[in-house]
Amino acid sequence: MKNITLLVYLILSTTLLKAQSPLFIPDTLSGSNINLNIADSSNQFFPGFNTTTIGYNGRYLGPTIILDKGQTVTMNVHNALMDTTTTHWHGLHVAPMNDGSPHNPILSGDNWSPSFTVMDNAATYWYHPHMHGMTMDQVMMGAAGLIIVRDSLEATLDLPRKYGVDDFPLVFQFQHMDSTTKQIILDDEADNITMVNGQISAPFLNVPAQIVRLRILNASSHRFFEFGFDDNRTFNQITSDDGLLNAPVPLTRLMLGSGERAEILVDFSGQQGSTFFIKQYGTQLPAGYPGGPPDGMGMMTMGPLDNTDFNLLQLNVVSQTINPVTTIPSALTTNIPYSSVGADNFTVAITGIPMMSMTNFAMNGVQYDMNVINMNTNQNKIMTWTISNQSMMPHPFHIHGNHFFVLSVNGATPPLNMQGRKDVAVVSPMGGSLVLITRYDDFNDPMMPYMFHCHILSHEDNGMMGQFIVNPPLTNISENSNDLNNQLYPNPVNGTLNVMLQNEKHQPMTLSIFNDMGQNVSMTKTREGNISIPVSELTAGIYMLFVTDENGNTKTSKFIKD
Ligand code: C2O
Ligand code: CU
Ligand code: CU
Repeated sequence: MKNITLLVYLILSTTLLKAQSPLFIPDTLSGSNINLNIADSSNQFFPGFNTTTIGYNGRYLGPTIILDKGQTVTMNVHNALMDTTTTHWHGLHVAPMNDGSPHNPILSGDNWSPSFTVMDNAATYWYHPHMHGMTMDQVMMGAAGLIIVRDSLEATLDLPRKYGVDDFPLVFQFQHMDSTTKQIILDDEADNITMVNGQISAPFLNVPAQIVRLRILNASSHRFFEFGFDDNRTFNQITSDDGLLNAPVPLTRLMLGSGERAEILVDFSGQQGSTFFIKQYGTQLPAGYPGGPPDGMGMMTMGPLDNTDFNLLQLNVVSQTINPVTTIPSALTTNIPYSSVGADNFTVAITGIPMMSMTNFAMNGVQYDMNVINMNTNQNKIMTWTISNQSMMPHPFHIHGNHFFVLSVNGATPPLNMQGRKDVAVVSPMGGSLVLITRYDDFNDPMMPYMFHCHILSHEDNGMMGQFIVNPPLTNISENSNDLNNQLYPNPVNGTLNVMLQNEKHQPMTLSIFNDMGQNVSMTKTREGNISIPVSELTAGIYMLFVTDENGNTKTSKFIKD
């Protein structure tokens, strides 16, 4: 009898506890110095159970970083983990050396402090580790946080922007936890719980009876969300990953793949005292999408939450704030995708290895090799990317370092909510295709690539990733300066090109040679004052030498190979 009473008490108290937990709103960090400490930790997701986690400045997930477009920021990241990590600023337009890719490792106990100017439009971005082969492990243990960028254009619009008052960060995750030990299982195929801002089991959020802005991130490793409200209300999407849409897009369902973000406006005017739920409508995902119905090709769903509808977050409508936003703007911005005239086209063909694989994928027949550059482009060069998917699964395709525009989805005009700046776009299975367009105007680095990959973290870790180099602009090669002219000899040259660098301080210098097609044909790193580069292998013609110091200052000269 006593045991039964205790049991009933436990069940009741857990139920009450769950029902009573208000949604946790992450702290914010802003200013020109952002300090992040990534560390092993533990968290009580379930009362009485210490779950091993990783957090930035805390137990699980991390603070929301708020940045202004145009400001400079130094991100001071300390790695208190036992393992190497990196911190990637997902969606931000930064140079490869500041991007936090696998090429910017932070060893255990070390610091990494990239400084950069925030060049991005107002939107919701995020940060997370990116060590090749360990991304899923570190992210799903809890290492992720949001970045909110504000800008002067967005500031002129009458939009909710009081953080935690009428503007709420919502980090949604599918997770896999052992049902007895309550430890996170690093296998994303059988996810069995969902979290919002690191809380399990439909916590509640008080929302004022007015227009509210929700900044939504799918920070799952694998599964797609199909968001909707339990009353099937219409809401308005106002941003795609990297900026405002042209106009609010009315929706009743919003699908986000791993890594995608959307800001939505929801109108709770006149609904004070009511309760609503944000739900996962897994049954309404396209067949074969992780989290959705089986694909009808014999493939079964893999997790207990797949192909089901359930509550994610309870919303209690409370009284209005002062100065509430009560109307939805009719226009937001004007997005003008680049013209594709003269673009270089890159094709990425996705295949399963083997064909029917759900875990192992190749792009153009190869998997990630940190020492292989898969593509080359030039600064200021328009690029289209044609992604075609021969595999059995959809893949959220992500490119680092800049936003892109989606020109077509399966050959058709993209839906309105994909017609803004994005950095992740879902390519549908079995013949699906995307055409993307982008251009890298501000940075080049002949030594360090940007990544492109599937944002299903187990796919990425298994090698569904590639890398490309942005070389100096082609225009420099045809016209521009000869400011190294007197420092090269002989010119014309046949066997060995000698370069006098006047490098008294022995700074690291990179010497890159480009042919008249803009292809990088030679690369040398040195700290010497004078250097000899063998050029006998080069075909006869006009070449351009670029000498870049560690601050990115570049000097150039033409030379002729006989
Ligand atoms: Cu959010 Cu390369 O990733
Ligand atoms: Cu990224
Ligand atoms: Cu994938």
